[in-house]
Amino acid sequence: MIPALAGVLATPVFAQDKPAYLDPTLPVEQRIDDLLQRMTLEEKVAMVHASGEFRAGSVPRLGVPFLWTADGPQGVREETKLDSWDLAGRTDDYVTAMPVGMNLAASWNPELAVACGKAIGEEACARGKNVMLGPSLNIMRTPLCGRTYDYFGEDPWLTSRMTVGYVKGMQAEQTVACLKHFALNNQEYNRGTVNVEVDERALREIYLPGFEAGVKEGGALAVMGAYNKFRGQHCCHNEYLLNQVLKKEWGFQGAVISDWGGTHDTREAALYGLDLQMGGRAPHDECFLGRPFREGILKGEFPMSVLDDKVRRNLRVLFASGGMDGRLPGSVNTPAHLAISRQVAAEGIVLLKNSTGLLPVDLSRYKSIAVIGENAVLKFAPGHNSAGIKSFKEVTALDGILARVGGAANVQFSKGFRHPEIHWSGKRDHAGVRTSDSNAATPEEAKALTERAIRAARESDLVIFIGGLTHQSFADDEGVDRRDLSLPANQDDLIARLAEANPHIVVVLISGSPVLMPWLEKAPAVLQSWYGGSEAGNALASVLFGDVNPSGKLPCTYPKSLGDEPAHQGGKRTYPGENGTVHYDEGLLVGYRWFDAKNVEPLFPFGFGLSYTTFTYGNLKVIGDGSSTAAVECEVTNSGAREGAEVVQVYVQPKLPSVLRPVKELKGFAKINLKPGETTKIRVPLNGRSFAYYAPEKKGWVAEAGEFGILVGASSRDIRLSGSYTLVGTTLVQ
Ligand code: GLC
Repeated sequence: MIPALAGVLATPVFAQDKPAYLDPTLPVEQRIDDLLQRMTLEEKVAMVHASGEFRAGSVPRLGVPFLWTADGPQGVREETKLDSWDLAGRTDDYVTAMPVGMNLAASWNPELAVACGKAIGEEACARGKNVMLGPSLNIMRTPLCGRTYDYFGEDPWLTSRMTVGYVKGMQAEQTVACLKHFALNNQEYNRGTVNVEVDERALREIYLPGFEAGVKEGGALAVMGAYNKFRGQHCCHNEYLLNQVLKKEWGFQGAVISDWGGTHDTREAALYGLDLQMGGRAPHDECFLGRPFREGILKGEFPMSVLDDKVRRNLRVLFASGGMDGRLPGSVNTPAHLAISRQVAAEGIVLLKNSTGLLPVDLSRYKSIAVIGENAVLKFAPGHNSAGIKSFKEVTALDGILARVGGAANVQFSKGFRHPEIHWSGKRDHAGVRTSDSNAATPEEAKALTERAIRAARESDLVIFIGGLTHQSFADDEGVDRRDLSLPANQDDLIARLAEANPHIVVVLISGSPVLMPWLEKAPAVLQSWYGGSEAGNALASVLFGDVNPSGKLPCTYPKSLGDEPAHQGGKRTYPGENGTVHYDEGLLVGYRWFDAKNVEPLFPFGFGLSYTTFTYGNLKVIGDGSSTAAVECEVTNSGAREGAEVVQVYVQPKLPSVLRPVKELKGFAKINLKPGETTKIRVPLNGRSFAYYAPEKKGWVAEAGEFGILVGASSRDIRLSGSYTLVGTTLVQ
């Protein structure tokens, strides 16, 4: 029971002048009981399905308002027409665009996740939205997944820390967070129909922990069912995932909302855990949880208690979001929100290479700068598809650089390349995936763009190349996966030629997922930036010119080739699936877990990120009494000449496990800011789950007696301190 909703009395007590459900001094469960018993069957059914594109419910007779939802994880999406996807074209729905999930995850700063959730929650209040359809937290199983940008990367622990922070920040602002997409929506290819087959341990240890933490620690009151199937049953009405795991095991008290159009059957929706069917057009009562459900109840096919439980869960969401008692006013487009957006963007930028110390750019030395690349002038916030943001401000990379450089140097821009503009042809390929006609640049156009860019490079002291993906179709986009990991257009060739024309070149990648870098040896400096929201260009400029010391760490492995990736080892069977089913044959070995187990060298490892300063580690202590409650302590010193932040990562390594286990797993981290010469001690707690694996035969987590390596490092492949800890006795842990 949610603490705030505890204390349900057996029979409602009415205050003198108003019915219990309208009395804010009474416990919410009591108010819901009172309201439920006043509702007719028709009114209850109206509460469990959409009454508009992003609206559900309402019971006018009893003063129960609509429940308003809005995408998406990066901010409150603009208004659509009431009953369609079409945009309403209003002028009062501009918002702050927050950076995408991968950008937030790359900050490894849970406090920023709280701040981000809080800011979006405040903007949701200002826009009258009860539920935000976010965070998105599916694990990156393949870097080809079209929505990788939306998520928090490949690791369950990092994902869970970002999720908990985001949910707590948002729900503290009377806005309900909706964890999505539950579960196993790890590809966009055939997302609406693909059936996922994955073993129980991988499900529990890799794909569910973020959701589990979001519910148990974060207190999330909404969960969105995924489009795909799991073990043959649609996730929007899945007996095992929703009734057994989410509601029974985890004690979830909120509402399961379908993804839009993700509901396929009245009986399953009624009995297998769906509480609110969203998506679809008027007449909404004709949906699976409308008239057919009501008729099923009248015929005795479904007990009334099934409907009452759904209504109760939706009412909990309505009450928790101030729907019955008035909402916080919230705020939108404030300087505070812009500041958070900028801090998240900057803290998530990852310095991948700086071999000659070219960064940060010294403007006393470089007096002419060529900014080259179409990504420098693109705006990405609208590109999040269902989560597209109409931001009242989005600073491009070029604008950020121009603003920062001012008159200190001459800046010229050359497009260098043109992304293929994708126009949907409306046709579908063999797998039913939308195909497109892309008017890629002709060889003549590409040649002309290249030559102009090379001329600009030659005549400048410094080149800042800004490329990456387009956040359009086949290149970081919802609904379609990427076809490969290469940079689109002729960027690879252009970067190599620019580096020959001018060795003082910084390569900035703006993307939401990993890319290949055949030109890496030729580039002395490389930054991974992301779709960074309203202040993206200013955040990038602050890192380029040293106002901010980069502290981002990769939330996922960057492979040397797609063929090194675990999801791509078994042909179509393992991705994107065959005969309608995709098999996660790699099991637990997702991301760095695979690269470790198979001893494959990545291009850049999970958790990697450089700084403009250096850090040394020392004095490791692993504290504990042999039980699974332990702690890792060590000291970190800023051994360089600039203030900076470091993310100290703690990996746990079972030495002689009795079952297959990853070589090591991230089980804690701490982000610290240090002045030059400063030393601080960090302490990372470990608990039962830090050591445990999921035992299907026990239906629980086992912390097995034995020795564990405790590895402390600056990335998953840069271990600075090693210790060990021995668990005395095997225990079942929560
Ligand atoms: C979309 C997405 C989901 C979004 C929903 C409403 O298809 O899968 O993330 O929240 O529909 O737009």
